[in-house]
Amino acid sequence: MERQALMERARTLLKEKNAVMVSHYYVHPDLQDLAEATGGIVSDSLEMARFGRDHVAQTLVVSGVRFMGETAKILSPEKRVLMPDLDATCSLDLGCPIAEFNAFCDAYPDRTVVVYANTSAAVKARADWLVTSSCALDIVRALKDQGQKILWAPDRHLGNYIQRETGADMVLWNGACIVHDEFKAFELEALKKEHPQAKVLVHPESPADVIALADAVGSTSGILTAARTLDAREFIVATDNGMLHKLRTLNPDKVFIEAPTSGNSATCKSCAHCPWMAMNGLAGLVHVLETGANEVQVDPALGQLARRPIDRMLAFTHAQRAGKVSAGLVPHIGAA
Ligand code: 13P
Ligand code: SF4
Repeated sequence: MERQALMERARTLLKEKNAVMVSHYYVHPDLQDLAEATGGIVSDSLEMARFGRDHVAQTLVVSGVRFMGETAKILSPEKRVLMPDLDATCSLDLGCPIAEFNAFCDAYPDRTVVVYANTSAAVKARADWLVTSSCALDIVRALKDQGQKILWAPDRHLGNYIQRETGADMVLWNGACIVHDEFKAFELEALKKEHPQAKVLVHPESPADVIALADAVGSTSGILTAARTLDAREFIVATDNGMLHKLRTLNPDKVFIEAPTSGNSATCKSCAHCPWMAMNGLAGLVHVLETGANEVQVDPALGQLARRPIDRMLAFTHAQRAGKVSAGLVPHIGAA
């Protein structure tokens, strides 16, 4: 089927099946636009989780990577969660197997376990807190203010950034995102010289020397906010280039330039686009809606355990927005 026919077919099927799309900013523009045009959402991983949990539709189609589908299923075990491709995973998730992670946690029994959303259900089940890049700083700062010491996994760059910003006592798992790990500070400095007026927007999964060159550091939604609010016309963007679609649509009079991934020590992976996000496509979307294939499954008992740290994160961020974060929301380990 042609692209336009696939779009139309997907629209019809979403209505027929009473399904809603939950897409991440890094997937193909068609899957972002279709989600918004049909009452779904395009967002960062925190809002994807909240939207899926709160929406009345009994079928969620998650366009993103596996941990996003699993989080949706954990939060709504009664719903059917489908994904265009179940093999879409994440280097952070792959790099944090549960057996090794359990041993790491066992070696630091006095630490509060804080894990990034980009992990398996089993790793989440071992955690005290879940965080995404849009709330990690605030949650770790609140834990530190209570005198808690942190065990952090799996992204070492994000962990390092949070440690530097909060001064919290953290031990870090040694994981990385294969996309953000490839941004190069040396080449970024050269690009900045070519565009002296440009502001630099960086996702905190990037290396420290790249973050050091940023005018704004934030999650995908944080990057969107910075592009809208910073006083500049040109921006250099250090995150997956799927992000450029939304940045350009929402800011048609501004110019967005991809941060460089090439140069010294570049590898064949360095294209600033996640190979797993790229597995999501219109044909896969239509196929799962037609057949019900690719349903995300999470063992219910494991899901219950994994839900606790996710609920904590959602309660914390909800209360924060309402200006009501209290000590009760940041329990000491063992208190929950
Ligand atoms: P955000 O939470 O900033 O959207 O990042 C999630 C992520 O890593 C997607 O790959
Ligand atoms: Fe994982 Fe990086 Fe891909 Fe995000 S962009 S899904 S962190 S590998």
